[in-house]
Amino acid sequence: MEEKTIDENKQGEALILEAKKGNTRKLFIESYGCQMNFSDSEIVASILADQGFNTTTLLEEADLVLVNTCSIRDKAEQTVRKRLEKYNAVKKINPGMKVGVLGCMAERLKSKFLEEEKIVDMVVGPDAYKDLPNLLQEVEEGRDAVNVILSKDETYGDIAPVRLGGNGVTAFVSITRGCDNMCTFCVVPFTRGRERSRDPQSILEEVNDLAVKGYKEITLLGQNVDSYLWYGGGLKKDFKNASDIQKATATNFAQLLDMVATAHPGMRIRFSTSNPQDMTEDVLHSMAKHKNICNYIHLPVQSGSTRVLKEMNRQHTREEYMALIDKIREIIPDCGISQDIIAGFPTETEEDHLDTLSLMEYVKYDFGFMFVYSERPGTLAERKMEDDVPMEAKKRRLTEIIDLQQKHSAYRTKQFVGKTVEVLIEKESKKSDQYWSGRIPQNTVAVFPKENYKPGDLVMVKIEECTSTTLIGKAVGYS
Ligand code: 5AD
Ligand code: SF4
Repeated sequence: MEEKTIDENKQGEALILEAKKGNTRKLFIESYGCQMNFSDSEIVASILADQGFNTTTLLEEADLVLVNTCSIRDKAEQTVRKRLEKYNAVKKINPGMKVGVLGCMAERLKSKFLEEEKIVDMVVGPDAYKDLPNLLQEVEEGRDAVNVILSKDETYGDIAPVRLGGNGVTAFVSITRGCDNMCTFCVVPFTRGRERSRDPQSILEEVNDLAVKGYKEITLLGQNVDSYLWYGGGLKKDFKNASDIQKATATNFAQLLDMVATAHPGMRIRFSTSNPQDMTEDVLHSMAKHKNICNYIHLPVQSGSTRVLKEMNRQHTREEYMALIDKIREIIPDCGISQDIIAGFPTETEEDHLDTLSLMEYVKYDFGFMFVYSERPGTLAERKMEDDVPMEAKKRRLTEIIDLQQKHSAYRTKQFVGKTVEVLIEKESKKSDQYWSGRIPQNTVAVFPKENYKPGDLVMVKIEECTSTTLIGKAVGYS
């Protein structure tokens, strides 16, 4: 799941929730990285609300500062280090303030964090948030506190997250945690641990609760949603030994989608992230069957070269990926598809790079998230491969990939001009307070004059013009 799929403006923005009566302590919590981190921060805020904390957006008045961190690329870690410098400056005027680091960097660096960053009082890994009350007590008694134990069954299924700083229209619901895929470039299996799925009942309850509160769209979240499998909890490898009854009553991702979509026909449903090797045809059929499941798939490819894919341990070839794209287009002809691509993975040649460009040409993605390879400590690529593509070549290849993507994005948005599409209004447009902004099922942003519509309305919009990223139109009525 992807660090940049979150609205960039939200990165590092302090999150706020409704104050709980009687709470006197102030929590400043901010998140970097993927949607899962933002979702986790809501769980953390919920746990701390029971410990007397209300959120604040003012760093200077906080009793406790928490930063939920990302390790996916070196740059993400540097951003967090900079924030710690800022906290350090604030601590000079607010010496009582305590600082905790959450998330992937906490897990990766463990107690080393306390040595490297003197400002840090508490280090808490992604599976240890329920231990926060105890850790806080340690800190209040003047000791540093660390819990980075990874779990094989923690899903926080029993915690009702407090919705932070959202628009009241769209929300994330996590369905799996961790990842077992072991792509050789990726630090996530080390920082977020083994893959585990959440009880479908608790997922449905959370969606019910969101529906009651007026939410209109949910995104089911996981590092690898297609490998969702519930048969009573624990690790997926145990499924091989599960009893016949457990197997007969197991729920996979296609079934989960079906359950949620059937229970809430008025709720739009999205999911992220899909992995090519795990995505089954059943999932596509569930999508085709339900109008309320958005026709959009984020399907990272990373490289268009079968040889590089093998070095990345991606478990599929270029041809298999293309066959999956064909299958998607056959079952859901108007499906939006986006990518993640890494430029300059070790051993990548110009020819491999050209394979990536030609694969992009084949798919013509609606949009994508593209990065230069960043070597991560502890991954197989770091241990076994030399980071041998010169930075200059990496950057040039990335530029070529981004330029081509922009061309394809423009091609895709143009296809909508003249058509009438369904838009769920989320918020005011950033460019004009006279316009609403929302997304079409394919996930492309659309803006149009406000008239008498309001956030949460599902509106039919006739698209009149576009840029490579945004559709611009006029509302013609409710959906
Ligand atoms: N370097 C560059 N990009 C990476 N990603 C994951 N690990 C790395 C890395 N070491 C990208 C992948 C993934 C997305 C979340 O981040 O494209 O799909
Ligand atoms: Fe990382 Fe691969 Fe798992 Fe995605 S599927 S989180 S890239 S290991």
